[in-house]
Amino acid sequence: MPAFEVLLTGPVMPLIREGLEARFTTHKLHEMPDADSFIREQGHRIRAIVGGHGHGRIDGPFMSRFPNLQIVGNFGVGYDGVDAKWAGEHKVIVTNTPDVLTDEVADLALGLLVATVRRLPQADQYVRQGTWLKGNFPLTASLREKKMGILGLGRIGKAIAQRAEAFGLRLAYHGRRPQDDVPYPFYASLTEMARDVDILMVIAPGGESTRGIVNRDVLEALGPAGTLINVARGTLVDELAMVEALASGKLGAAGLDVFEKEPHVPEALFGMENVVLLPHVGSASHYTRNKMGQLVVDNIASFAAGNGPITPVPETPWPLRG
Ligand code: NAP
Ligand code: 8YV
Repeated sequence: MPAFEVLLTGPVMPLIREGLEARFTTHKLHEMPDADSFIREQGHRIRAIVGGHGHGRIDGPFMSRFPNLQIVGNFGVGYDGVDAKWAGEHKVIVTNTPDVLTDEVADLALGLLVATVRRLPQADQYVRQGTWLKGNFPLTASLREKKMGILGLGRIGKAIAQRAEAFGLRLAYHGRRPQDDVPYPFYASLTEMARDVDILMVIAPGGESTRGIVNRDVLEALGPAGTLINVARGTLVDELAMVEALASGKLGAAGLDVFEKEPHVPEALFGMENVVLLPHVGSASHYTRNKMGQLVVDNIASFAAGNGPITPVPETPWPLRG
């Protein structure tokens, strides 16, 4: 078996790059003049790949070009950019960065909710543009006496629920199955939950199993007074249907941290008063990104030292089966 060499598929934070370079020969695919030749001629040297959101998909055909690949370290808890099923079937471990970002993303989700309902960015513009001198900012909608449905009551969903309870919101949730020890009502139907709540908080994983599940029916069930908050992945929402519903008033408002084709955002949203748009910043603090980056390095280092991965995803359990 060759020495443990690592391939980066895109730019990473210095903490990751330096942490890997201190231990391993590290190759940077995105800086290579001819990446294809490198993979063809040197691909057999690669034992670990490190990638993240926006670096391009790490799918079966890509991974299969590295015959000695053993581990893929994903920068982010969401690993919809990696074909983990293929990896599991081919004895390649995939790791992600759970838990270390949970509270940061939950904070952002509540902040985005308040910003959307109370129109904070618009109020800020009102002051900056001198409009306050001409009269008071218009009254807004409220979170008082409202109910929020959470799509994806996992680690982050529960942290959002905890904060939402402190805000006085009533809660419900939708997932693939009801959970024990959860005090909130479960809805087997996402559309029915959307009909019964004022706010739909989307925080389930991306990927094919959730593609477009927040569809036209769900958005219209949420309705003209409803608010959609998406801090999960843009792919969960039918973006065209959402834009149309927001424009026609069939959906009240949306706070969006994620989009289908980032960094491209449907331009139709730019002129809308009833949306708040963020550039995928759920985990984007120095504190939390450092924790995530360290976990990426620690997973690869632990694996290379023979101690196994720290946070393998469920599709690639450790120790490897079979
Ligand atoms: P998690 O603990 O695995 O929770 C995911 C939840 O989604 C689970 O409760 C699961 O419940 C539910 N779920 C999974 N598949 C589903 C489906 N097909 N239909 C309905 N519900 C489904 O994950 P997490 O750590 O909370 O992270 C959630 C997601 O947040 C990540 O995958 C990532 O995409 C996103 N995220 C975004 C940012 C950002 O910057 N905006 C930052 C971090 C994470 P059941 O198993 O009961 O269905
Ligand atoms: C990251 C995320 O911003 O963890 C996730 O799933 O979406 C975010 O924390 C992203 O993965 C890094 O680009």
